[in-house]
Amino acid sequence: MSRIAYVNGAYVPTPDAFVHINDRGYQFADGVYEGVTVRKGEMIDLEPHLDRLWRSMGVLAMQEPMARAPMRLIFKELIRRNRISDGFLYIQVTRGEAVRDHAFPVFSVPSLVATCRRLNLDAVKSRAETGVAASTQPDIRWGRCDVKSTSLLPNILAKQAAKEAGSFEAVLVDENGYVTEGSSTNMWIVTKDGKLKTRPTSDNILAGITRARVKAIAEGLQIAIEETAFTVEEALDATEMFLTSSTSCATPIVKLDGEKIGDGTPGPVAKRLVEAYFDFMDD
Ligand code: PDD
Repeated sequence: MSRIAYVNGAYVPTPDAFVHINDRGYQFADGVYEGVTVRKGEMIDLEPHLDRLWRSMGVLAMQEPMARAPMRLIFKELIRRNRISDGFLYIQVTRGEAVRDHAFPVFSVPSLVATCRRLNLDAVKSRAETGVAASTQPDIRWGRCDVKSTSLLPNILAKQAAKEAGSFEAVLVDENGYVTEGSSTNMWIVTKDGKLKTRPTSDNILAGITRARVKAIAEGLQIAIEETAFTVEEALDATEMFLTSSTSCATPIVKLDGEKIGDGTPGPVAKRLVEAYFDFMDD
């Protein structure tokens, strides 16, 4: 747990960190967020995360709580105060406090909360060496999954169902049988002809920052990439499957709905990308 949280202008011990019951984030999930990996005290890909935060606020016509420069300083200070080396920085902006009414309030002050907790990235890497299991779940989310909204009930339900099925992650599937993404990750496969496949960014998936980074790394390694949607059948027929996210980096999926992907162990392409992603973080 974060020991110190940043809440609207103050660094406070987490047990004393509160927002108002009329905060629209609490009442309507009228908020957006970001999650940033911290490696050796440094925020990984902070600028693209801030770009995405600004984009999410823009789509929802949410006022920014402050400019980017002071925000960067606050996050640095929060990491320092929590003495985090490897960790996860959570940033949440809501439309702020107002009398409950669905329409936007005429006036409200946006709320900014940030926390930073330890994340054992060595354990993430070890998990990537063995791989994880995943289970399919219907994607029942709204039509703007490109917005990183705190409204996450469908994601939570899918993840819980996957957990109950003994899986690490839920693979969300649209009504045509195509994989959209994971409950909190982006999905990839390696086809039998050695190509990487991942769904193109659109309003039905989150444009993952790790996805963009892994794509750039793969391009640098001259691995062919096709940004096209793939079906569950294609995933089951693939030689490899893996997921990407800030907290999981790149993690091979070795079983889908109880069936082995490839030979049931992490494949060479995913292994190379996991290594390269950790090298990038450590550079
Ligand atoms: N989840 N897709 C969804 C639905 C996500 O919630 C996330 C991130 C991703 C991966 O995005 P990124 O590479 O930028 O982390 C994809 C974060 C980790 C979370 O909800 O905690």
